[in-house]
Amino acid sequence: MLRKEQNDLLTQTGPGTPAGKLFRCYWLPVLLAEELPENDCPPVRVKILSERLLAFRDTQGRLGLIDEFCAHRGVSLWFGRNEENGLRCPYHGWKYDVTGQCVDVPSEPEESGYCRKIKLKSYPMIERGGVLWAYMGPPDKEPPPPEYEFAAVPPTQRYVSKRLQESNWLQAMEGGIDSSHVSFLHRGDLNSDPLFRGAKGNQYNLADARPVFEVVESVGGLYIGARRNAENDRYYWRITQWVLPSFTMIPPRGNHSVHGHFWIPIDDENCWTWSFDYHPIRELTAAEVAAMKDGKGIHVKVIPGTFRPAANKDNDYLMDRAAQKSGRSYSGVEGFGMQDGSIQESMGPIVDRTKENLVSTDNGIIMSRHRLLRAIKALDKGEMPPGLDPAHQQVRSASVVLARELAFKDAAREALSARPGTAPASV
Ligand code: FES
Ligand SMILES: [Fe+2]
Repeated sequence: MLRKEQNDLLTQTGPGTPAGKLFRCYWLPVLLAEELPENDCPPVRVKILSERLLAFRDTQGRLGLIDEFCAHRGVSLWFGRNEENGLRCPYHGWKYDVTGQCVDVPSEPEESGYCRKIKLKSYPMIERGGVLWAYMGPPDKEPPPPEYEFAAVPPTQRYVSKRLQESNWLQAMEGGIDSSHVSFLHRGDLNSDPLFRGAKGNQYNLADARPVFEVVESVGGLYIGARRNAENDRYYWRITQWVLPSFTMIPPRGNHSVHGHFWIPIDDENCWTWSFDYHPIRELTAAEVAAMKDGKGIHVKVIPGTFRPAANKDNDYLMDRAAQKSGRSYSGVEGFGMQDGSIQESMGPIVDRTKENLVSTDNGIIMSRHRLLRAIKALDKGEMPPGLDPAHQQVRSASVVLARELAFKDAAREALSARPGTAPASV
């Protein structure tokens, strides 16, 4: 449970808010690289942390992320002409480069130098791992580029998607570190989804619905260990990674790919759910990629031409009561991704955490809130938060079977860091 002020603090990320300042310390995923496929392609609107921006790729391939609105009289530059190294407003022809600098005001005499005095807000944007990342914080505090393992492996070993989630980022992220819901919400699909089925770990998951949580601080966030009984005095451990502010990695299953999410606030009532799958040592198969594109695993089917899920709140997530009744699907909503999304959106745009009744399986959630609150407080005093150092980002989730007397954080220590060229620890 949180007090109202704490809930507001963690869920509001607009300019000037404490949590907004925290998010603005990091490189954040803003677009799939394929959304700006070539030089001088159409610009794309980007709303992030309640700021309305516009992304474009200029004639030389440079990336720009600038204020969406023209400095002259406020026209959306989405209507702009992307030409000759800049975006030209179609209303009166003012033109901006990728830094937001106005480079032409055609109605004014060139010698007046008027355009040099006009500059739109802009943020640096870089491409990594098939994703365009933006840094929206103070220029002198720009961190090194992101080093998450999924972004570092060759493109053939990776698949990334994003979907609109119509809820605040925090309740979405809290679903990502809540390992206990798998035995309920997703139980109908564990043995049928092509990206999960066949793993030995699934049987442990389904057989023991009372996981015991052990949560340990990592340098960048938390290791969230959930143990279930396995045979012969051993435990099946699922260890989720959370790295501030909102990067999570779900423990893998069998020889399937490893996966996880980022939750990035669009505004306080919507966020992007980023979903990535990769394998550290092998290419994804054509069948795996086809399944991911088809909305299997953690990915979802979207309405073509958009990132809104095909199953969404306007159609009751295509609820299938017969499947729910028969147990083919525990929730009646199809697919892991929208099972999560539907449940989290159903809490309302910003869940009221003053009314919760938390139990021991919510320990990861409780500790992540504390860590966020601490980081926000420390940032206010000038201390940079965890998760900025590339070493904090080079982590892996793991699923392992260990003797009962072993502490997971010691016994699985190696498995929890990204070691290039090594297989993930997965059961
Ligand atoms: S409003 Fe953009 S040039 Fe006039
Ligand atoms: Fe889930």
